[in-house]
Amino acid sequence: MKIAVGCDHGGLEHKNAIAEHLIERGFEVKDFGTYNTNSIDYPDIALPLSKAVAAKECELGILVCGTGIGMSLAANKVKGIRAAACSEHFSAKYTRLHNNSNILCLGGRVIGVGTAIELVDLFVDTVFEGGRHQNRIDKISAIEAE
Ligand code: RB5
Repeated sequence: MKIAVGCDHGGLEHKNAIAEHLIERGFEVKDFGTYNTNSIDYPDIALPLSKAVAAKECELGILVCGTGIGMSLAANKVKGIRAAACSEHFSAKYTRLHNNSNILCLGGRVIGVGTAIELVDLFVDTVFEGGRHQNRIDKISAIEAE
């Protein structure tokens, strides 16, 4: 599985640790930056990464900013993206299981690197349940198509 990672200056340490962890686990990782702590606008990272996920060049994406919220707002503007900002384990698991989210957004100023890696593991290891949840996602797609 190919996983996209990206961050702004508020999530650099987390993004780098997540990328390293995913590579150690045997995933292919595409790093969309940023690569240093210079201030950068999070939509500039969220947009190319989200397009790559929507085009299925990457199966899942991980975006980190200060809160995870800005990244999720930007990513969700791209058609086909279901991005979820999570800071605890239950949501990171269920947003895959029930929402079939394809991007996990994390807050580098909200959670530590250790928790971030645990949430990433839950996210990538959980498979969408389908069934009644697919009907609900179809309704989200219908809103998107309006
Ligand atoms: C950058 O200072 C900060 O606003 C950004 O990382 C993020 O938290 C936005 O949602």
